[in-house]
Amino acid sequence: MNGKFTHNQLITPAMHPLSGTIRIPGDKSISHRAVMLGAIAKGTTRIQGFLPGADCLSTIECFQKMGIRIEYADSSSVRSDNSFSPELLVHGQGLHGLKQPDGPLYTGNSGTTTRLISGILAGQDFSCILTGDDSLNRRPMNRIIEPLSQMGASIKSISGNGCAPLGISPGKLHGIRYNSKVASAQVKSAVLLAGLYADSPTEVTEPALSRNHTESMLSGFGADVSSHQNENGSWCASIQPCRELFAQDIQVPGDISSAAYFIAAALLIPGSRLLIKNTGINPTRAGILKICREMGADITCINQHVSAGEPTADLLVNYSPLHGTAIGGSDIPTLIDELPVIAVLAAYAKGTTVISDAAELKVKESNRIDSITRGLQAMGADVIPTDDGMIIHGGKALRGAAIDSFLDHRIAMAFTVAALAAEGETIIQNAQCVDVSYPGFYDEICSLGRNTF
Ligand code: S3P
Repeated sequence: MNGKFTHNQLITPAMHPLSGTIRIPGDKSISHRAVMLGAIAKGTTRIQGFLPGADCLSTIECFQKMGIRIEYADSSSVRSDNSFSPELLVHGQGLHGLKQPDGPLYTGNSGTTTRLISGILAGQDFSCILTGDDSLNRRPMNRIIEPLSQMGASIKSISGNGCAPLGISPGKLHGIRYNSKVASAQVKSAVLLAGLYADSPTEVTEPALSRNHTESMLSGFGADVSSHQNENGSWCASIQPCRELFAQDIQVPGDISSAAYFIAAALLIPGSRLLIKNTGINPTRAGILKICREMGADITCINQHVSAGEPTADLLVNYSPLHGTAIGGSDIPTLIDELPVIAVLAAYAKGTTVISDAAELKVKESNRIDSITRGLQAMGADVIPTDDGMIIHGGKALRGAAIDSFLDHRIAMAFTVAALAAEGETIIQNAQCVDVSYPGFYDEICSLGRNTF
């Protein structure tokens, strides 16, 4: 992110157990996809529980610049628990209804916006430029440039370094069979979205199953999508060329990646008992629940149901003494964004936790192997970074420290949790970056712990 996030947040240790019922803002991944598919579908898509975080606002802005009318519905409301429930209307213009923007599309800090929208733009009959903030413009884009080029798209890194800004011009798209080296929903989704515009079927294989919201939502909008697991354990998603998508009503569940900070805080602060309402528990996202339980956590899913194709539940979390574990393999894509806060749990847990197969951490909003290690070491934890993860010898008391957020929302929130359970005061530097995925995070956690922030 650029320099506007200069707010330092003081965190003092939690003085009370966390207790009560909370509602987490909408899922970021699902909110992005709902706007994107709504924009290229015919008719008005209604999105309840949309996440108004900076990343999803970047997605809205890009489509508005391409002539799509997007507005809050009158029924957007403040709930009885004081949380805001935005309802968004996206007036879609069909697969070929986007207009050339009159300047570059700005995707801010959002990798999801940049990579997914590239798949859509590859199929348009106009040229445009995509660019983001400093962090975004350092993240690898060859992972989408390569498959989209194989499909016949004209897409290039303007500076020639494999990063944004990206220039995308009209090209005739053909279906391909693409073997992705990384389990990445962003890569898979870019290829599937381009596949909507191709003249033959498109297939993407990934080494382990990454989040499947794109496949599931595309089906809901009327596309012909399927997926299966191969004998060698890899996963293949395929899509047929498409004539039209049709507007839908979408209920966005609470984001398990945001719930993760409250789950972790409740597990660490003695006496806590928290009910987190209406949280998405799609198995491709819910690895944190599995790992926390392996570490000894008492978490129960109640009121389970499926809403707009997405499994959802209320999570009841009780304070639990934790022990270390091993985290790797096909679990990694199901909890990749939660690894910062899982590392915090590991630092407080008895024994050793080994995180492996997670080299993707290096190319997130910050190099998270580095940013997690530095933060935990500053607080006195015993952490050894490795090439694809880290080894954490847990169980030491942590002390407050000055923590560099590296302008990375998940680092800021993970270390806020670490600070609540530590001795002494912590300063989270540039903490305003939490707005990327969780505007209101500090108000929520502050009111729960009745902290003197
Ligand atoms: C996302 C996919 C993940 C995740 C990111 C959101 C998505 O990235 O880290 O925060 O919405 O598709 P990768 O798919 O590149 O692992």
